Amino acid sequence: MQSPFRRGSYAGAIALPSPGLPNSRSARRLPPLTPCRENVNGDVVHGASIFAPAGAPADAIQTLSLFVLAITGIIFVIVGGLMVYCLVRYRRRSDDDGREPPQVYGSNPVELAWTVVPIIIVFVLTTTAIRSTYEIQAAPPPPDSLQVRVVGHQWWWEFQYPALGVITANELHIPVSDPAHPTPTYLTLESADVAHSFWVPRLAGKTDVIPNRRNIMWLAPAQSGTYVGQCAEFCGTQHAKMLLRVVVHPADDFARWVQAQRQPAARNPGAEAGRQVFEATACVSCHAVRGTGASGTFGPDLTHLMSRETIGAGAAQNDLANLRDWVEDPNRLKPGVLMPAMQLTQPQLDQVVSYLASLR
Ligand code: CUA
Repeated sequence: MQSPFRRGSYAGAIALPSPGLPNSRSARRLPPLTPCRENVNGDVVHGASIFAPAGAPADAIQTLSLFVLAITGIIFVIVGGLMVYCLVRYRRRSDDDGREPPQVYGSNPVELAWTVVPIIIVFVLTTTAIRSTYEIQAAPPPPDSLQVRVVGHQWWWEFQYPALGVITANELHIPVSDPAHPTPTYLTLESADVAHSFWVPRLAGKTDVIPNRRNIMWLAPAQSGTYVGQCAEFCGTQHAKMLLRVVVHPADDFARWVQAQRQPAARNPGAEAGRQVFEATACVSCHAVRGTGASGTFGPDLTHLMSRETIGAGAAQNDLANLRDWVEDPNRLKPGVLMPAMQLTQPQLDQVVSYLASLR
């Protein structure tokens, strides 16, 4: 009998708009990375350009970068221009007599100029860089700011909201921050294994995620939508598929998201068989489903799995066909992934996928 989860029958049930490529297997699986498209929720998906900052830290970094680029650009043009001029104007000619040109020594004004001008330039560049660094690094969190603990794993992101009782993975949800009344989100970054780096180019600079160390960063996006990012420190075979998304909500939307995430896992009588298979296999030693016996912490919390757009940390769209592929053999979508294939029979596979699909 044809399984309801086989590719084809449900393909497109949660499909995203075509990324403009042929609707091949691989094309359909790619998470949207192109700028400003709409995702399933109708949110705008923003690209990953460092030239389009969308929040306070990224704005400050861009302003500083353009300032440094302008000053160094002017120096480059002056020095390069003079050099080219001299090379052309004073090149060797056929009627050269081979004598040295007149030499200039001990000009106080010239020596003063080439000492003082570089000192001023270095001073200006240093102080503006220190000021921007200080503004970004030392900004104290407002008392009611949202705090999120980010844990980097090979190869996925864990997001814990200790004050809200929410744990999720790979897709960080935060409220929008109105520049007039900023409500920044503060991230504490830790690693469970090797060094990673948290980078969402449009929202902030990179911050390394290092074992046995806590780094801090903050985000204050001024515009809602989904921002894509990527682990930016080589962390093993699937470093390239350690993608991340930041979903920025208007305040009331964010409150609704938190409310939904706080609920224990939905209990669906139609998915009981799958729950039993799931709980009887080693799935539960790595994954947690709140409100059930599953309490593993090695892999992502699956309590509200279907609220996420992607699986495998952005390796594939979260639709039923991909989910089935993933559970059957995660290596197909993400070679080297630490989740093993559980060797389920085809009926068990359908039951487990049906259970996972009920975790909304
Ligand atoms: Cu984690 Cu690269």
